[in-house]
Amino acid sequence: MSMTSEEPSPFRPDLQSGKVALVTGGSSGIGFEIARQLGLHGAKVIISGRRQQVLDDACAALGHDGIQALGVQGDVRKPDNCQEWIKQGVAKFGRLDILVNCAAGNFLVPAEQLSPNAFKTVMEIDTQGTFNASRASFPELEKSGDAAIVNISATLQYGATWYQAHASAAKAAVDSLTRSLALEWGHFHIRVNGIAPGPISGTAGMTKLFAGGDDAMQHYMKTIPLGRLGTKWDIAMAVNYLCSSAARYVTGATLVVDGGEWMYRPPL
Ligand code: HXC
Repeated sequence: MSMTSEEPSPFRPDLQSGKVALVTGGSSGIGFEIARQLGLHGAKVIISGRRQQVLDDACAALGHDGIQALGVQGDVRKPDNCQEWIKQGVAKFGRLDILVNCAAGNFLVPAEQLSPNAFKTVMEIDTQGTFNASRASFPELEKSGDAAIVNISATLQYGATWYQAHASAAKAAVDSLTRSLALEWGHFHIRVNGIAPGPISGTAGMTKLFAGGDDAMQHYMKTIPLGRLGTKWDIAMAVNYLCSSAARYVTGATLVVDGGEWMYRPPL
């Protein structure tokens, strides 16, 4: 079955109405679609990113879809930037109920060629960045009374993935943080969950992985039980679920959204 990113939503259009969401890395890729779908379901959205022009274009596109959006420039590696985003977001929209930690950095490189600084860079963006944004959001999320954090992770680290030592370590740490914050912040009415996307079409990661061409892609497709790449919509709908009252008793979980890819074994 082929799927586009424009499937009709199975959710009520007011699912997130009255809520304000911050999506880090929300100006492009999966983060943008998450922001868009939260917005199409009634949330006001704050998107963060490093590139001002990309942020401006993303906010214009969200506005075109009728979504109230604010772009905030900066880097998740800088705690001060994260605090400033919350300040600006609350000044504009009055509150914060949802944080989606989507900012990430990655590249394919054999471990023996991976520089210590390259390893550190990915750890700092993915893991430290998730902590920084969560920590900065905490005071406003606590005030919300019904808050949700969603950490975008990966399945790379479930076994081991070639040329991904840095990203696998970083995402394993993100999964750990999901559980720790869920444990400690549950009594503040903040649920903390994760989503582990599999292969998602149209992302920087998939483009880098299949720069080799169609043959490699066709072979790879046979290793996905559901027989297709995922879409950004698939991830955004999982976020909508985790940030809704349908998931009100779910915390500390990481939902795998990968068409069954990570557990694939060939037939005996
Ligand atoms: C080897 C690399 C490299 C590459 C950078 N480095 N790119 N090493 N191969 N392709 C090294 C640099 O040489 C440097 O080490 C160190 O990493 C830091 O690089 P900078 O360019 O100074 O860092 P910065 O400008 O902060 O950029 C961060 C970045 C960049 C991660 C390197 O690519 C980025 O910002 N990407 C954001 C978008 C992105 O990648 N999204 C994909 C997420 S996908 P030295 O030693 O030379 O100083 C994802 C899902 C995982 O996360 C699943 C995928 C299959």
